[in-house]
Amino acid sequence: MNSAFSYLGEVEPDKGNLIKGLQLIQTREGYVSNDGILAAAEHFGIPAAEVEGVLTFYAQFKRTKPGKYKLSVCDGTACHIKGSTQIRAWVSAELGIGDGETTEDGLFSIETVACLGCCSLAPVLSINGRVYGKLDRKSLTKILNEYKAKG
Ligand code: FES
Repeated sequence: MNSAFSYLGEVEPDKGNLIKGLQLIQTREGYVSNDGILAAAEHFGIPAAEVEGVLTFYAQFKRTKPGKYKLSVCDGTACHIKGSTQIRAWVSAELGIGDGETTEDGLFSIETVACLGCCSLAPVLSINGRVYGKLDRKSLTKILNEYKAKG
């Protein structure tokens, strides 16, 4: 097995533990890569296509490497009412990627999440856990430009 995934040894190689194994990969790597799929297939003794099928079925698994800056755009009820659909469209337009994608330079990724717990600040997004609220086009552009400048 690819030694990068040797931690899979912590999970008993029983097919019934496949999800557990995939969760472990995602926790360690931030996503499940093609190499991760192969390592899981080998460890649990099942075809890679079957592992891929499981990954597709469960929305909790990410197949794309997260960016250095992980944007979580809230689409909970309060944010939705305050225009989160527009915020998501602006973020995508600014970065040139859609929900669940990572920019080619690996800097940014976007995910849509349910309530971030700061509804009074709606509409809200967080970047690596830091919350930005009461967003509008101007503040959003400013925030993204600051992160772009940091690189
Ligand atoms: S709905 Fe967005 S923070 Fe609660």
